[in-house]
Amino acid sequence: MLGLVEFIHSSLIFVTMKTSPVFLDTKPVSYIIGDGALAYSKRLLKDFPRIIILLDENVKEHCLPVFKSFIPEVSISGVICIKSGEDKKNLDQARYIWDELTKMNVDKDALLINLGGGVVSDIGGFAAATFKRGIPFINYPTTLLGMVDAAIGGKTGVDFIGFKNQVGLFIDPRSVVIDPVFLKTLDEKQWQSGFAEVLKYGLIIDRELWKILRGKKISDIDNWNEIIMKAARDKIDIVKSDFLEKGIRKNLNFGHTIGHSFESYFLKKDKPITHGQAIAAGMICETWLSQKIYDFEDECLEEIVNMFDINFDRLDISEDIIPTLLDLMRQDKKVRKGKLKFSLLRKIGKAIHHVEISPEQVVGSLKFYMNKSW
Ligand code: GLY
Repeated sequence: MLGLVEFIHSSLIFVTMKTSPVFLDTKPVSYIIGDGALAYSKRLLKDFPRIIILLDENVKEHCLPVFKSFIPEVSISGVICIKSGEDKKNLDQARYIWDELTKMNVDKDALLINLGGGVVSDIGGFAAATFKRGIPFINYPTTLLGMVDAAIGGKTGVDFIGFKNQVGLFIDPRSVVIDPVFLKTLDEKQWQSGFAEVLKYGLIIDRELWKILRGKKISDIDNWNEIIMKAARDKIDIVKSDFLEKGIRKNLNFGHTIGHSFESYFLKKDKPITHGQAIAAGMICETWLSQKIYDFEDECLEEIVNMFDINFDRLDISEDIIPTLLDLMRQDKKVRKGKLKFSLLRKIGKAIHHVEISPEQVVGSLKFYMNKSW
């Protein structure tokens, strides 16, 4: 890390830090987080002679007007609109972005703004980093998931021949501007998707955040500014110390090994579930595994499971699909030499990665989930 400058005024945090190592860009990343971030961000934009916005059709309708109304003085040279949805995060759409940038004669002085959720920041960061060997980009996440996860940490890329994020690179944006004003545009599924990741930070690194949230339903929460600041800072702290995911960043995978198998299973059945639903279910299973291995109190297991149960419906699955789920887990990127490696909890607020788990233990956790029993 080269430098950290931080000031907090009213409800805004401004952090500048360099994650390390960064190969393609030597400038520090600035994060502007909280109510007022959007208006404040105009000073980041003033030095760019041309600004292009990448978004999808939903963001164009619901968020672009908000963006323009908060920073009307910023002149936009072009808008590139892609199709929404994870299934559209592919090379065809990346090619479309490169085509549009070429038609607009975009050069390295220009800035690409990724205005949207995780799909837009993933594909937009990838397209920007590879166009003319790299043009600068800034992420303006508009979903809760984007604000606390996808827009932070420099993972960019596209899905390829059925594999998620198969082609891509680690590259940080110039800045990430996180303003909860966009949350007003979210539907229930998008809230749930981001909320599962927020709960994950409470469990893996931030006991204080867990204490603020425990026992609450999403709809009961009114201090989103505070919660987003905490969750985004948790992610920034993790990626700052392990940008390339060699160690501690793997803790972010808590709930994801089993969660991704649920996500893929329902996708193959043509009944897609949200990432949040999948990892909420995954976190129940992986909390059960954690408790078996690290032997924390039954009350903790109960508290965690109850928190997921009041916010997420249990998935409709039965024991006959367990072999399919195990096969899907074996295809996961986290599998090494055929061994299932998990990120688990030692206790609330502390995670541990690279824990080898046997298929029998995984089956135990799935049965616990399906039978809803203690
Ligand atoms: N979303 C997990 C990570 O950024 O590492």
